[in-house]
Amino acid sequence: MTVRVLATTQMQPTDARKAFPCFDEPAMKAFFNITVLHDRSTTAISNGKEIESVDVEINGILLKRTRFEQTKRMSTYLLAFIVSEFTFIEEMTGDVNIRIFARKEAIDAGQGQYALNKTGPILKFFEDYYKAKYPLSKSDQVALPDFNAGAMENWGLITYRETALLYDPAFSSNGNKERIATIIAHELAHMWFGNLVTIKWWNDLWLNEGFASYVEYLGADHAEPTWNIKDLIVLGDIHRVFAVDALTSSHPLSSKEEDVMKPEQISEVFDSISYSKGASVLRMLSDFLTEPVFVQGLSTYLNHFSFNNTVYTDLWDHLEMAVNSSGTVLPMSVSDIMDRWVLQMGFPVVTINTITGQLSQKHFLLDPESVVERPSQFNYEWIIPIQWMKNSGQQPLFWLENKEYQNDMWKTTGDNWVLANLNVSGYYRVNYDTDNWERLLKTLQTTPESIPVLNRVQLIDDAFNLARAQIIPTTLALRTTQYLSNETEYMPWKSALDNLDYFYLMFDRSEVYGSLQAYIGQQVENLFYHFKNLTGNWTKEIEGHLDQYNQVTAIRMACSTGLEECTTLVKGWFDQWMDNPAINPIHPNLRSTVYCSAIAAGGTKEWNFAWQMFQNANIASEAEKLRAALACSTTPWVLNRYLEFTLNPKLIRKQDATSTIIYIANNVVGQPLAWDFVRANWEYIFNEYGGGSFSFSNLINGVTKRFSTQFELKQLEQFRDDNSGVGFGSGTLAIQQSIERTSANIKWLSQNKVEVMKWLEGAIKK
Ligand code: BES
Ligand code: ZN
Repeated sequence: MTVRVLATTQMQPTDARKAFPCFDEPAMKAFFNITVLHDRSTTAISNGKEIESVDVEINGILLKRTRFEQTKRMSTYLLAFIVSEFTFIEEMTGDVNIRIFARKEAIDAGQGQYALNKTGPILKFFEDYYKAKYPLSKSDQVALPDFNAGAMENWGLITYRETALLYDPAFSSNGNKERIATIIAHELAHMWFGNLVTIKWWNDLWLNEGFASYVEYLGADHAEPTWNIKDLIVLGDIHRVFAVDALTSSHPLSSKEEDVMKPEQISEVFDSISYSKGASVLRMLSDFLTEPVFVQGLSTYLNHFSFNNTVYTDLWDHLEMAVNSSGTVLPMSVSDIMDRWVLQMGFPVVTINTITGQLSQKHFLLDPESVVERPSQFNYEWIIPIQWMKNSGQQPLFWLENKEYQNDMWKTTGDNWVLANLNVSGYYRVNYDTDNWERLLKTLQTTPESIPVLNRVQLIDDAFNLARAQIIPTTLALRTTQYLSNETEYMPWKSALDNLDYFYLMFDRSEVYGSLQAYIGQQVENLFYHFKNLTGNWTKEIEGHLDQYNQVTAIRMACSTGLEECTTLVKGWFDQWMDNPAINPIHPNLRSTVYCSAIAAGGTKEWNFAWQMFQNANIASEAEKLRAALACSTTPWVLNRYLEFTLNPKLIRKQDATSTIIYIANNVVGQPLAWDFVRANWEYIFNEYGGGSFSFSNLINGVTKRFSTQFELKQLEQFRDDNSGVGFGSGTLAIQQSIERTSANIKWLSQNKVEVMKWLEGAIKK
């Protein structure tokens, strides 16, 4: 094996000062002239185009000197330079030179082609969306074999981990492809929003990351218009962040400048609130302003502040101007509405009583007994835009501006249901009176299509979470899954399984597990045969992107609940591959789930084979699938050895260490092993593995997800106290969240275990 060396930078947020002396603050913009001295066998790239590369001799050492064109006026955190032996492919889009750099073997295998094909269209899309030209002459994107973040938006020189940029249809799944399209869109969106116009200080990071996390869906949708990508924000951001924003340990989007001063504090603002809540409230804003008004304000904002810095209220000002010139009517100013969403943590649950016509709002807390200590100048009340439906017809936008409101228009009788928060365009949950819930449940059973698919997703997620918060009975939530035996769409299934995942976490070490497996197995059986038919007994590929996902869901759940036809099928594929490792007969979309099932059911032979294939893989997305599946083993010593591997970067790359530990913790057998391992090695992990974008908070949340006993709570508190000296870096808040979640789980179990067991047994058709 030849060892090759590569040098790269990662400046954001506070490391440019480690590369060279500078005023390392986003508002201290400057023009940079970069020159790199490097080995003659390598090439250097940086933000600007290379304008000269000459051989030089310095102190008797033969080197190359590469000079780059002067940068635009920019912030230090966006600078970058890379010295490597990478090769590239390129094309011109208009007058912009687009290049994709990677290891030579990856480029030669064509793995950069998909990214190259999509970058031009996405760049053009954003030029139109922002009504502002891409300001640079080139756009380089580089795939790094070991990279802590997913990607980094250095201006003109975006860096990615390999799985986020390289694609090979023979190995990569549709999910890998989607990630590439969205992550490219995310980073390209920053070229304007973030790079051309930059937040003045890190306390406004949510605007930068939240915005990119919203428009990444728009950019990716433009690149892959048949995929319905825009809908996925509901599962990927809104529902995901609801889970943390419903805790009292959450925090507002906006922070004060003086509270975000030290590098650790700056790292900490890169959290799911900034990303996913930021994206969710900006989507809500764009929706109630309407997209033309939103982009009008956005474009004057970007043009006015080009090459300068802003605070988030500057964007509100420009949106307000756009509102005024468009004649749109809002109940109050953009900033008055948005203050409620930006300055206070959490979100409301809107309760609609269709008998009395009463509407009310309340701060939604996952644990109803938890005490909110953080004061809010708005008393945890919001100005809420409500898109809604009644008697199957869409109604005009309604604004809930107070705690309570009454109007007969919200009343309904008979079979006519009311449904609010259409397409989940608002950042809130909805509850109804029992009669309306019953009507909605009945509609799910009889004519589910009359409820928009995103609202089927929402009804399930709201019901489960309202139940968690003891607002509605858990059995009502479980009943939203009964219609699934007739559901073939991906998103409602995913919503249900994400929620049932909580039941697995709480029950997979208890006697409820058997009934849970039986019920879900029964519900998923139709879906399995639906896809068996559609694919002509698993021989043809499915057309739709989301249908491809749902096929994976069907196989994953049918196998994990023990449908014999499924386990035999999957084992057959894996055995075939082991017999002839040169030809992998498993479709890339199905590999993750097939590998996992086969390794879980298999022994050391399967594990060792997969480990071998992992080490041989020339494409990161294949290695990734195997790395995840290796955690599916049910043999404790194998899992313990695998945990040890994560401390050896020659076996598991540094970028992958924390996620591998999390994969192991997801496995019910691996969970206690991973927790012991993290506790025993915390200091080492913390010091060696730094705080990648989300790695520490993910790690802490990951290894403590199942915690639901007093004993586990004690251990967690002990862990916090024992390591207060070492610290938790970007995972500081995650510790608090885990403690709060564990307490809530303890309570939930004691209140629900018996009832859930009884319900499941009644729902199983023997
Ligand atoms: N600016 C971030 C990368 C970053 C994160 C740098 C944290 C320093 C600290 C980049 O734009 C980003 O958000 N990357 C995401 C991927 C994105 C698609 C959500 C990441 O790295 O996970
Ligand atoms: Zn970003």
